[in-house]
Amino acid sequence: MTFRIAPSILSADFARLGEEVKNVIAAGADWIHFDVMDNHYVPNLTFGPMVCQALKPHAKRADGSAVPVDVHLMVQPVDAIASAFADAGADLISFHPDASHHVHRSIQVIKSKGVKAGLVFNPAEALDVLDWVIDDIDLILIMSVNPGFGGQSFIDSALRKTEAVRKRIEATGRDIRLEVDGGIKIENIRRVADAGADTFVAGSAIFGKSDYKAVIDAMRLALA
Ligand code: DX5
Ligand code: ZN
Repeated sequence: MTFRIAPSILSADFARLGEEVKNVIAAGADWIHFDVMDNHYVPNLTFGPMVCQALKPHAKRADGSAVPVDVHLMVQPVDAIASAFADAGADLISFHPDASHHVHRSIQVIKSKGVKAGLVFNPAEALDVLDWVIDDIDLILIMSVNPGFGGQSFIDSALRKTEAVRKRIEATGRDIRLEVDGGIKIENIRRVADAGADTFVAGSAIFGKSDYKAVIDAMRLALA
């Protein structure tokens, strides 16, 4: 299993975002997680496609290789803004199915741009939509907090949900990333991996400390 750590720049210093992206990549980030909030689907407001486009050139390792930009849309409606993020350089775009009237169409909007598509499930959201679209997606993102804010506590039922999603992914035989988002720390990342996750979003746990590399190294050690 290849594990990926996806620092959420929601907890970065917004006055120095480009530098924060570079620093967290130098510290070992595998993906950059980009939380888009619209003050409508969630009670908070962050950044849009223009900021994604500005950061894209900074999402590179020292050897010049690109670090995927993982856009998590907490917006309603979905399609127009998803399309704008594809144009702004997003590598993966995930949305909440309950924020789209036509989930299959929203997935196609993203894929038609050559971008990987994901679905995000809130803590109390059922997985039923996967019965119909799992073969069309590249990523499933399980929320282990309610969306809208960093720094919340991990909701344990997300572990059971992650186990259920891992079984569904195995049944497809396809390569679908299973990412968990919210309240992940050095202390609980192993439990999240044991439930079946392969990709871990962490915002406050990384950006809340001065030594990003020490946190990411400790997370990898817990996963090893
Ligand atoms: C919440 C966001 C998360 C958030 C996680 O709506 O989707 O990505 O940044 O933050 P922490 O890791 O602090 O819970
Ligand atoms: Zn997120």
